[in-house]
Amino acid sequence: MELDLSVEIAGLKLKNPVMNASGTYDPLRYESLVDPNLLGAVVLKSLTLNPREGNPPPRIVEVACGIVNSIGIQNEGVEEFIKVKVPLLRKFKEATFIASVAGLTPNEFAEVVEALEGVDIFKAYEINTSCPNLEKGGVNCALDERCIQQVTKAVRGKTNKPVIVKLAPDVTDIVAIAKVAVDAGADALTIANTYRALVVDLKSRKPILHNVTGGLSGPAIKPITLRLVYEVVKALDVPVIASGGITSANDALEYLLVGAKAVQIGTMNFVRHDIMIKIIEGIKKFMVDEGIKDIKEFIGTLRT
Ligand SMILES: Cc1cc2nc3c(=O)[nH]c(=O)nc-3n(C[C@H](O)[C@H](O)[C@H](O)COP(=O)(O)O)c2cc1C
Repeated sequence: MELDLSVEIAGLKLKNPVMNASGTYDPLRYESLVDPNLLGAVVLKSLTLNPREGNPPPRIVEVACGIVNSIGIQNEGVEEFIKVKVPLLRKFKEATFIASVAGLTPNEFAEVVEALEGVDIFKAYEINTSCPNLEKGGVNCALDERCIQQVTKAVRGKTNKPVIVKLAPDVTDIVAIAKVAVDAGADALTIANTYRALVVDLKSRKPILHNVTGGLSGPAIKPITLRLVYEVVKALDVPVIASGGITSANDALEYLLVGAKAVQIGTMNFVRHDIMIKIIEGIKKFMVDEGIKDIKEFIGTLRT
């Protein structure tokens, strides 16, 4: 049976609905384990205007069914990235690259997009709103409707490429904040980033992460993020990319069933390096077993 795994998100055509989550797969380091040309899209590590060292260690700790990280958006800065990494990424001729944009003020997001606008390999921007907003005393932008609005508008004003706003999951009303992003010009949403979490050590009576708190990811979060995707898909007419705790093809298929147009694999890349390829194969097998020719016929068919 000829299978069609392609999906379209805000005009962006993907060969299949499986991509990596930002910060968890570097195609230049791991191409021998996962060929980036085979993925629906490759989302790069979040970029800020200036280089960032990130937080001091310890910054990753394992917990039951997941990890808590406080990397702190470590990156080389957008100019260095364009100069050094972009020429190397060009060898992946069949890959669809999405740039991930971060910033410490709404204007910084716009400046990063402006710097990336001339780079033809990027077909869309994912906006990582889980960043401290220095104009508001370091409050996480993703938790603040006004900041989401300002960032989305600022970025929208700089590009005609698809703008995908990545939301935080631990907000009171995900639909309300998703609507703010869409009204401000987002073409699609990624739901969602990690959940704020704390891990402490009984003997030293100290937090384990140097940054005290971090973000929980991995299988622990999957049913919670699945609910968020469900709520947004039900309420709003906007393409959703799901990110949260996917470990298998079945997990990915659950998100598609609920209505996500595509999925991202994060933490599981550290556990099983070829997991994204295995998930694409598993989706194909499910389609054959269920007699589904086109994955689009399956997306959003949850019976409630
Ligand atoms: C080590 C690590 C680094 C991450 N770096 C980024 C990042 O740079 N930008 C971003 O938007 N999300 C980042 N994330 C969040 C992931 O992209 C993803 O949204 C989240 O981990 C949930 O998916 P998962 O449960 O499959 O890991 C990071 C997550 C981890 C574990």
